[in-house]
Amino acid sequence: MTEPSATFLLFGATGDLARRMIFPSLYNLLSDGLLPDDFLIVASGRSDMDDEAFRKEVDAALRQFLPADRYDGDVAARFVALIGYQPVDAGNADQFAKLAERIDGRLERGLSVYLSTPPSLFAPTAQGLSEAGLITPHTRIAMEKPIGKDLASSKIVNDGIGALFVEEQIFRVDHYLGKETVQNLLALRFGNVMFEPLWNTTAIDHVQITVGETVGLEGRVSYYDGVGALRDMVQNHMLQILSIIAMEPPARMDPTAVRDEKVKALRSLRPMTAETVKHLSVRGQYTPGAVGGQIVTGYADELGQPSDTETFVALKAYIDNWRWQGVPFYLRTGKRMPARQSEIVIQFKPVRHSIFGRDGQHGAGGTGLEPNTLVIRLQPEEYIRLQIMTKRPGLERQVQLEEVTLDVSLTAAFAGQRRRIAYERLILDLLAGDQTLFVRRDEVEAQWAWIDSIIDGWREANVKPAAYSSGNWGPSSAIALIERDGASWHD
Ligand code: BG6
Repeated sequence: MTEPSATFLLFGATGDLARRMIFPSLYNLLSDGLLPDDFLIVASGRSDMDDEAFRKEVDAALRQFLPADRYDGDVAARFVALIGYQPVDAGNADQFAKLAERIDGRLERGLSVYLSTPPSLFAPTAQGLSEAGLITPHTRIAMEKPIGKDLASSKIVNDGIGALFVEEQIFRVDHYLGKETVQNLLALRFGNVMFEPLWNTTAIDHVQITVGETVGLEGRVSYYDGVGALRDMVQNHMLQILSIIAMEPPARMDPTAVRDEKVKALRSLRPMTAETVKHLSVRGQYTPGAVGGQIVTGYADELGQPSDTETFVALKAYIDNWRWQGVPFYLRTGKRMPARQSEIVIQFKPVRHSIFGRDGQHGAGGTGLEPNTLVIRLQPEEYIRLQIMTKRPGLERQVQLEEVTLDVSLTAAFAGQRRRIAYERLILDLLAGDQTLFVRRDEVEAQWAWIDSIIDGWREANVKPAAYSSGNWGPSSAIALIERDGASWHD
């Protein structure tokens, strides 16, 4: 089917993600004229409400979560008029039948179902859809993470959905893939001739991926505790970023070619063991401290009890293939970090031979020769910076080198372009049936297989989170993890 789905059915419509991201994204798509004619949004949640009451809630969410200059009363009125609300409890066949009545006669023109619910409801919801006759070859289903909590449970979730949909109908959401800068990695690597020949163990010393957040638990206690940073951030977002950095060039930008290459990279991750986790990983948990000048409480205080859940993790990963042999990938992510900052750092090797005398040393006797660094900042700003060596002006007999930065601010280069919500791209692709930016089952499983090796290692070696004061980049052992190798986290 080439036409985009004419109906969008959202489960979990009264939840936080729907209010913050999904409705504002749909609003933006409508405002930009990107939704099909005669589009219908059927919103479903457990609360009992009529269309009017729900539309008011959506309008309030748009006012709250859209930038003030983006909210337009006329567009909002047109937008909420597209929405109908149907209360549905998974397992209630009558309510699914009512849902089907609302969509009656529209199935041929495509139905995109979006599950923004806890994963325990995925399979029962799919079952309800099936019994109500809502699954046809023109139906697609999108699922939010987490897909399981380990490889075994992810298989159960995937089997449940896979019993009713074929893989081409299943869209696993990782919202990082909707971020412009993450897609830009593909453009950078494969749209330029200059990076790819250097993108391997010959020229690259190591790679760093940092996703720092200043927030703490944010009231997500019931979800987060027992899950932790490794499952919440590394299993999905960070490994997706890693796979795009590490993959071989796909033959073309299509869902099969791109995901085939990503999964090969993910499968090449060297599993950890009880022995290796001790020097390849660091777990941390925040204690009271200050973030951005604000005093904040510790994780255990927010939770109301002690816990072994990590809110920070740092890893040294290896990808055992030809391209990346011996190149460490350092990953770190955490809550209550000093800054909301996500970036990728490609640290190149030093030049093979310095013609300028003693290299790598500033000051007397040194020329200041430093290896090149490529920094790709994902957020809060979006930029690409390349540190290169130049000659400092002057008449010294020995050439003095100085690092300067080739600095491309994507925000400035594309000034006037609205910064989009990652979900806009993903919803548009879901409606159009393009799976390139969605995660295939084998990718999720390869991600879990590696994560499981770390969790098993932690359990066997009894690795507990080390304390770090809020407002720091994790425990000091995270700094030692990289400094032992003669490198340091990019500042
Ligand atoms: C979510 C995690 O997937 O990503 C959250 O569950 C995290 O814990 C969020 O805060 C980060 O997303 P972003 O887009 O704000 O970097």
